[in-house]
Amino acid sequence: METNDKKIIIAIDGFSSSGKSTMAKELAKQIGYRYIDSGAMYRAVTLYALEHGMISDNGIVDAAALTAALDDIDIDFKPGADGQHTLLNGRDVESEIRTLRVSSNVSPVAVIPAVRHALVAKQQAFGKGRGIVMDGRDIGTTVFPDAELKIYVNAPAETRARRRWLELREKGDTETTYEQVLENVMSRDHIDMTREESPLRRADDAVDLDNSDMTIAQQNEWLLNQFRKAAGM
Ligand code: DC
Repeated sequence: METNDKKIIIAIDGFSSSGKSTMAKELAKQIGYRYIDSGAMYRAVTLYALEHGMISDNGIVDAAALTAALDDIDIDFKPGADGQHTLLNGRDVESEIRTLRVSSNVSPVAVIPAVRHALVAKQQAFGKGRGIVMDGRDIGTTVFPDAELKIYVNAPAETRARRRWLELREKGDTETTYEQVLENVMSRDHIDMTREESPLRRADDAVDLDNSDMTIAQQNEWLLNQFRKAAGM
C-alpha cells in the first residue's frame, strides 16, 4: 500500500491473547512500518535472568542483581523468513522466549522499575524516526503518549480464553481445559491491571476495539482504516 511521507507512531495496547500482536504485525507489513513487540523485550530480559541464576525455583527474582546487569543486556530484532526474531546479546532467542518457563516468570520481572525504565527508553529509541507499530500494555500511556494512533484492544476474558484454548487444541494439547485457560487469562489480567509500575490502562485518546465478533481479515481492515484516518490519507 502507498503511504504518504508523514510517518506516524501506532500504539496497540491490550490484554494477553487479545490478538493485538497478530494485527500489529499485519498492519506493519501492509504499510511498510517497523513492528516492535514490546512483550518480547520483557521476555528476553526474563530469559537472561533465568540463565544467570537470578530467578529462584520458586519464582523469586533477584531484582538488585538484575538491575545491576541491565547494561549488559542488549535486545534487538531482526527479520526472519517466518516474521521477526528477537535477539538477546546477538543470539536468536525467538523460540526460547515463548516457552512456558519464560511465560511463567515474566510477570515479576516486568514489575521491576529499573527493568521498565531501561526497556521504555529502548522502545522510545526504536520510535525515534516514527514509522513504527508497537504493541504492549503501556505503549499509548507511557512509552509514546504522543502517538498519533492509539488502539485499545478490549475483548472479554471469555473470548480470549476460548481463542487461546482452541489454539492449544490445534497444537495437540487435549489436556488443558477451557476453565484452566480462563483462570490463567483472568489472573494475568489482574496482574497487568493492578501492578504499580505502568499498569495496563486505556489512554484517554485511544480508539477502542472489541474484536470478539471479527474475523482476522475484518480486524485488519478496521485497523487499516484507523491508520488512514490518523495519517491523514
Ligand atoms: O504480550 P506478552 O504476553 O508477550 O508480554 C509478556 C509480559 O510482559 C506480560 O507479563 C506483560 C509484560 N509486558 C509489559 O509489562 N509491558 C509491555 N509493554 C509489554 C509486555
